[in-house]
Amino acid sequence: MKEAENTGASHAGKSRSSFSGKLGYVLAVAGSAVGLGNIWRFPYLAAKYGGGIFLLVYLILMLTFGYALIVSETALGRMTKRSPVGAFQAFGKGPLFKFGGWVNAVIPMLIVPYYSVIGGWVTKYLFEYLRGNTAALAGDDYFSHFIADGIQAGVWFLLFSLLVVAVLFAGVKQGVERVSKVMMPLLVVLAIFVAGYSVTRPGALEGVKYFLIPNFKNFSWMTVVTAMGQMFYSLSIAMGILYTYGSYLKKDVDIEKSTGQVEIFDTGIAMLAGLMIIPAVFAFSGGDPDTLKAGPSLMFITIPKVFASMGFGTGAGILFFLLVLLAALTSAISLAESGVSTFEDQLGFSRRKSALLMGAIILLFGLASALGFGTLDFVSLLGMSILDFFDFLTNSLMMPLAALSTCLLVTRVVGLGKIAEEVQQSSDFKRRRMYNLFMKYLAPICIVIILISSIANVFGWISM
Ligand code: TRP
Repeated sequence: MKEAENTGASHAGKSRSSFSGKLGYVLAVAGSAVGLGNIWRFPYLAAKYGGGIFLLVYLILMLTFGYALIVSETALGRMTKRSPVGAFQAFGKGPLFKFGGWVNAVIPMLIVPYYSVIGGWVTKYLFEYLRGNTAALAGDDYFSHFIADGIQAGVWFLLFSLLVVAVLFAGVKQGVERVSKVMMPLLVVLAIFVAGYSVTRPGALEGVKYFLIPNFKNFSWMTVVTAMGQMFYSLSIAMGILYTYGSYLKKDVDIEKSTGQVEIFDTGIAMLAGLMIIPAVFAFSGGDPDTLKAGPSLMFITIPKVFASMGFGTGAGILFFLLVLLAALTSAISLAESGVSTFEDQLGFSRRKSALLMGAIILLFGLASALGFGTLDFVSLLGMSILDFFDFLTNSLMMPLAALSTCLLVTRVVGLGKIAEEVQQSSDFKRRRMYNLFMKYLAPICIVIILISSIANVFGWISM
């Protein structure tokens, strides 16, 4: 793309590429939605925040709140044909419109650095499986020693992020999407297989129950706060991505139906990952609360134990981490790509300069996150490690704000009627009444309550 074309603040003048059709759209959104959020993040949050009750809260939020936001973002994108900063400014010029657009646009830039740290961990595990170190990886302290080792953690992070940045420079988004379309079905098959193995281990049934049957004793406000953050994260909501995708969408694609399909796909994979990991925790540790609360390290501790106990564990380990790596790579690339396109569109930078800037952001925040468990472990931000802090900042603080901006834009400025008009071009919009109810009252109220409680929790004003 030429420099001169990038200086305009909007995309409206250019002819915009569009998805070939309904299936193409659903696959593209599902491809971006399925990533580390489903396989790594969902199981450890479900384990930590109450099992079945977390799952129940998650499902309710996704079908109501998540649904309303996906429809809104997609419709706004299709209506304005712009990505978030431009879409907000298409409706007004004040500082609030600026804020609404930018908060959406900045979130992916803050996620991709720490996402790449986890991507680095996945790469390291793949490498070790390739070397046949299956038994060593299943050792009790293997993971904690690995992340505490500054050089190792830094090197694997750099390797993963170099891959991401290289693709940004090349701009070969197409190729990556094609790869992920082959890999996703493979991932599903493998996940079903590993989950099947995992739930049939002796003692695993307790874990299946813990994950699937809600127990209100395990409920706390943090269950709702984290479930909402996870829903945004997993479905790529509240960070402008769906505006951009919506802007590529043709008018004849049924927004309501495709939203439902994306939700089913994304949640299906997350639940399979839960069934792979949580029953395994019970089988190998008897549901020890410390293990259940392991947090980000959970996948790297229990999955290797499952594999080490299987006859063909090395092969399974190679395949599993290869597929997770590919899912993580495609997601990381589209997260970073959204940052790059914001720089191009809003700051008028060339692609090269934008990719360099994005690379610098990844390097700076990512390296800090990677070293946060060893060399920099004295740094504690609001009581969290650096990686956890970025995760909390984006998921629990910024995404609610981004979602609130979208709610206000829809109800106060654009109007529910115009959104309905956009959706009804290709859909019956059967859930219109629920949609209106959520956008107008329930969503903003929930967001504000949740925002306040997550801030209060961090500062220790209340303990949840
Ligand atoms: N949803 C992705 C996951 O579950 C992560 C993600 C969030 C993402 N926002 C995104 C991926 C935007 C691509 C584009 O891992």
